[in-house]
Amino acid sequence: MARKVILDVDPGVDDAVALCFALFNPGLDVVAVTAVGGNCSPIQATRNVQAIVEALDPPRFPRLGAASDPEPDVGLPPEGRGLYGPDGLGGADLPVAERQHLMPSEKVICDQVRANPDAITIVALGPLTNIARAFQRDPELPSLVGRVVIAGGCVAVSGNCSPTAEFNIFCDPGAARTVFRSASTKTLVPLDVTNRVTLDFDIFNRLPDETTRAGSFLRKILPSAFRGYRQRFGMEGIHVHDTVALMAVCYPELFAANEMAGDVETMGELTTGMTVFDRRRIPVRRFNMEVAMNLEKEAVIEKIVRGLQRAGGREGEG
Ligand code: BDR
Ligand code: CA
Repeated sequence: MARKVILDVDPGVDDAVALCFALFNPGLDVVAVTAVGGNCSPIQATRNVQAIVEALDPPRFPRLGAASDPEPDVGLPPEGRGLYGPDGLGGADLPVAERQHLMPSEKVICDQVRANPDAITIVALGPLTNIARAFQRDPELPSLVGRVVIAGGCVAVSGNCSPTAEFNIFCDPGAARTVFRSASTKTLVPLDVTNRVTLDFDIFNRLPDETTRAGSFLRKILPSAFRGYRQRFGMEGIHVHDTVALMAVCYPELFAANEMAGDVETMGELTTGMTVFDRRRIPVRRFNMEVAMNLEKEAVIEKIVRGLQRAGGREGEG
């Protein structure tokens, strides 16, 4: 039976690639896609979620949730938004149909988890704002979620937003702390593993062709990501952090994970948003999450490519 998932996203080219993979994967039942501010503003994130789902036109339309403004003291760093441009999708300018009214993301999360107790995996691919709000709104929710899989944090590598912080955690450290400390079952997929996967230009030879919705969509959004990575990091390839986190949901056998005790720094002068792990021989804190620390790189890349080919209506080659 397909695994029920809620995808919480701040699209973001890598969120969009993850959506493209997930919406056509027979192993996943995407019950909702909820927007959160991060790579772009909350309003833009909501618009992007609608536009992406409409552009891809999946066999089953998920429920959509709207991003709300962050708390006044939560800073989404404008400089962090630069990688994919101000609209998050490299200026792809996707059309969006007029929509009635979308429920706030945290309400959609609460409703879906309540309707499917113990059966939902929340795949958190942006700042943890919505998940924390859902947990605050319904304090029983953490124990009713099957698992929360989080793309974020770093254990033994440097951050990508500050020397110590990964972007999703840095955007809303208070929310991340709420989720980390909650009673939910969690898997963290940190930069330590997502940084190891790079897609190079060869990907364009393996994507579905331009005549398919997925092929046309991916060819619209990916070139800007390659430009962003070259300009900002001098790289001739891109990371797809969010898609790698999704691979940990779909193919956990390709990852090696450890039980760890993790928390988030919320007030450090230099270290706000840092994920902190008690790695002492005998940790004083109790293990509260599974943390992916290694992966089978080539196999993960192959699964990603084949999943994107499937989105274009073509089963994976070879
Ligand atoms: C994470 O931050 C965002 O830029 C990406 O979409 C991803 O979720 C990587 O640190
Ligand atoms: Ca993201």
